[in-house]
Amino acid sequence: MQLCVIGAGYVGLVTAACLAEMGNPVVCLERDQARLAQLRQGHCPIYEPGLQPLLQAGLHSGRLSFTDQWDSALAGAEVVFIAVGTPSHEDGSADLQQVLAVADSLGQHLLRPSLVVNKSTVPVGTAEQVARHIAQGLRARGAGFTVEVASNPEFLKEGSAVDDFMRPDRIIIGSHSEQARHCLQRLYAPFVRNHERILLMAPRAAEFSKYAANAFLATRISFINELAGLCAHLEVDIEQVRRGIGSDRRIGSHFIYAGCGYGGSCFPKDVRALIHTAEQQGYQPAILQAVQARNEVQKTLLFAALEQHFGGVVRGRTVAIWGLAFKPGTDDLREAPALVLLEALLAAGARVQACDPAALDGVAVRYPEALASGQLLLSEDPYACVEGADALVLVTEWKHFRQPDFLKIRGLMRMPVVFDGRNIYDSSELTTLGYLYHGVGRPQAGHCKVRAA
Ligand SMILES: NC(=O)c1ccc[n+]([C@@H]2O[C@H](COP(=O)([O-])OP(=O)(O)OC[C@H]3O[C@@H](n4cnc5c(N)ncnc54)[C@H](O)[C@@H]3O)[C@@H](O)[C@H]2O)c1
Repeated sequence: MQLCVIGAGYVGLVTAACLAEMGNPVVCLERDQARLAQLRQGHCPIYEPGLQPLLQAGLHSGRLSFTDQWDSALAGAEVVFIAVGTPSHEDGSADLQQVLAVADSLGQHLLRPSLVVNKSTVPVGTAEQVARHIAQGLRARGAGFTVEVASNPEFLKEGSAVDDFMRPDRIIIGSHSEQARHCLQRLYAPFVRNHERILLMAPRAAEFSKYAANAFLATRISFINELAGLCAHLEVDIEQVRRGIGSDRRIGSHFIYAGCGYGGSCFPKDVRALIHTAEQQGYQPAILQAVQARNEVQKTLLFAALEQHFGGVVRGRTVAIWGLAFKPGTDDLREAPALVLLEALLAAGARVQACDPAALDGVAVRYPEALASGQLLLSEDPYACVEGADALVLVTEWKHFRQPDFLKIRGLMRMPVVFDGRNIYDSSELTTLGYLYHGVGRPQAGHCKVRAA
């Protein structure tokens, strides 16, 4: 099937590369010239395991190509995917500017009755809005056809996006049109072992399902974080509680890890957008508001704990941070909790030494002054990163931070102090090695150090 994907970001690029891998000719439209140049040369502009080889294979086979020209992107396209950004407005609502601009361009450039499929995360009713924008453009130039708009929200996770796309838990197709449903079922058939993984529903239900999924996962995280805060007051280890409840099949073990808050390009903005939608309807989203409020507090806990540890004087201290991307396996820094800590430390006059396997370039672009002045030091080597540090803070639990040589590290640091923002280390092992260990909602030497407000 001849396909067009608009937007070569995390979602668009993975979609385009995976659909091309299955044998479909795909043209991907990208407006960012630097990104476009990289893609054409076969360089993946984002860190995403498994994506680079797919990109190169697609280019090599001639099935995958990139353009900034609407006419060549749409020529012959039977299905057009929209995969552009939907960031937050100031008031928390989803900013649909990119999606609607694409709809307007489709109205101006579509030459045939292609099926338009929206993959971006958008509020309920957006498929109808996109259809209206396209129809307006088609009418204005007297095109003698109409187009169908379906909703097909994307559920891939950064860090395992290619795997998730190739072996999805489910594919949601929101459309009232038999023809559109059939076309997408056919396109996705190679990705699903059985058709039960394809869920057909109304476009509005599909749009809502995406927000509901992210809001639910964010709720689990904020819930366990709230309990971690309480554990800290009761001298209970949240890690034991997590295992205690996670073994219950009704609860399950996913997304109940206490830590320093969720971030990324999806959970924070999608929870905000859902709150905004509810409020617009005069409906009070009390649970969602609490989820968001808890996460805001959670992102400040590590700094508060460090400040307390340093007796209120952070200025002049050297703090090592392990992990800057919003989660392991990605270079995405959007709303990363590590940046909240990093900025608080810089503002308080600390010297920060930070390490991340994929996100250092992005951090360097964000903090050029701190880098130039030497207040911020970036390193790919976790051991170089801790040299002379008064404390080490683990924020993003990349695999190679999981079993470091803490004996060696003790010799490199000025003070053997570890703040474990994801509760991945064995507190008794570190204490035995002479470290002062602080987890999130975990007792240390008989009492909990990191206390939630
Ligand atoms: N990142 C994720 O893990 C993820 C997962 C599921 C769903 N989503 C949703 O998918 C959507 C896209 O997310 P993303 O992270 O891929 O965004 P992104 O910002 O990484 O990528 C969007 C791309 O679209 C391009 N673009 C914007 N307008 C364009 C236009 N008119 N013509 C051509 N290119 C254009 C941008 O230059 C950018 O490269 C969002 O709605 C997001 O919420 C994201």
